[in-house]
Amino acid sequence: MRAVHITSHAGPAAVEVVEIDEPAADADSVVIDVHVAGVTYPEVTQSRGQYHLRRALPFVPGAEVAGTVRSAPPNTGLTAGQRVAAFPGTGGYAETVAVPPAAVFPLPYNVSFDTGAALPMNYLTMHFGLVRRGHLKPGDTVLVHGAAGGVGTAAVQLAAALGARVIAVVSGPDKIDTAKAAGSDDVVLAGDFEEGVRQLTGERGVDLVVDPVGGDRLTGSLNSLAREGRYLVVGAAGGDVPQVRIDSLMRKNLDVSGIGWGAFWAEQPSFLREQWAELLPLLKAGKLSPVLGRRFPLDQAARALLELDQRRARGKVLLDVR
Ligand SMILES: NC(=O)c1ccc[n+]([C@@H]2O[C@H](COP(=O)([O-])OP(=O)(O)OC[C@H]3O[C@@H](n4cnc5c(N)ncnc54)[C@H](OP(=O)(O)O)[C@@H]3O)[C@@H](O)[C@H]2O)c1
Repeated sequence: MRAVHITSHAGPAAVEVVEIDEPAADADSVVIDVHVAGVTYPEVTQSRGQYHLRRALPFVPGAEVAGTVRSAPPNTGLTAGQRVAAFPGTGGYAETVAVPPAAVFPLPYNVSFDTGAALPMNYLTMHFGLVRRGHLKPGDTVLVHGAAGGVGTAAVQLAAALGARVIAVVSGPDKIDTAKAAGSDDVVLAGDFEEGVRQLTGERGVDLVVDPVGGDRLTGSLNSLAREGRYLVVGAAGGDVPQVRIDSLMRKNLDVSGIGWGAFWAEQPSFLREQWAELLPLLKAGKLSPVLGRRFPLDQAARALLELDQRRARGKVLLDVR
C-alpha cells in the first residue's frame, strides 16, 4: 500500500511517500480502508523528533482517519463496509490502518468522511478539556486562543454548541473569517486581546480560557479571567512553554488545568466511546461541522504539514488518501 514515512527528524518537508506492506489483521484490531486522514500538530513535532512519545524510525504518522471497515473482531459492534472515524494515534497516513476497537467510531449516515477525519483528535480533546476538566456550563464565556487552527476551531464550535458565549483570539485579520465560521460570537486580535476582552465583557472577564498557543498568552489570559475562572493548558504551538506564579492565582480564585487527553484515555480506553456517544447528538443535529481548511493528496503530505508548521492553517487540514 501507499503510505507516508517519517524517516528522519529533518522536519515536515522531509517526509516520504513509500510502498509498504499492509498491516496484518489480528484478533484485536479493526482494519480500515482509509479515505481521508486528518493532519494534526503532533505530526509536525514528530517530524522533528520533538514529540513526547518517540517512535523508532521509520514510521507512518497519522493520528486520525475516516474510511470503511475492511474487517473487525467479533463483538465489537463493527462490520465490514461500515463507515467510521478512528484514532489510530499513528499509521493513519496510509491506504490501510489497523486500530484498536475502542478507538473506532461509527459515523452517522449524514456525516461525511471529511468531517469524520476532522473530529477525533481536536473534538475529543476539547470535549475532555471543556466538559470534564473545565466544567463548562451553558451561559459561560469562553476565550479561545489560536481560534482559526484545528484545536481552536473545535473549541469554538463545541463551546458554542454547549451553550457558551465564545470570544476568539487570532493573530491577524486574515484569520477572522475562519474563527467566525467556527461559531465565535466575537473575534479579537492577539496583540491586544486583553483590552478586547475587557471591553466585550464589561470588565467582568471570561469563565474559561482555552490555550493551545502558550508563550506570552498566559499573563494576559490570567488577567482576562473572571473570579473562579479556569485556564486550560492545551498546547504550545507558539513554541514557548509559559511559567505561572501560583500565588497569582489566589486573588481571583483561579484554576490552571492541564489537558492531557491522550494521557487520560490511555489508562481508560473505554472513555473514547463514551465521549463519542456524548458528541453524537450534536453531530446528528449538524451542530458539529468542522471548519475545513486546505486539502492535499497523500503524496503531498509534506505540504500539508507545512501548512501547520508555517502558521498558515485555516481550519482543519486534510489528506485525501483514496
Ligand atoms: N492537550 C492535548 O491533548 C492536545 C491535543 C491535540 C493538540 N494539542 C496541541 O495543541 C496545539 C495546537 O494544535 P492545532 O492542531 O490546533 O494546530 P494548528 O491548527 O496549527 O493551530 C495552532 C495555532 O497556534 C497559533 N500559533 C502561534 N504561534 C505559532 C507558531 N509559531 N506556529 C504555528 N502556530 C502558531 C496559530 O494561531 P494564530 O496565528 O492565530 O496565533 C495557529 O492557528 C499543538 O501544540 C498541539 O500539540 C494538544
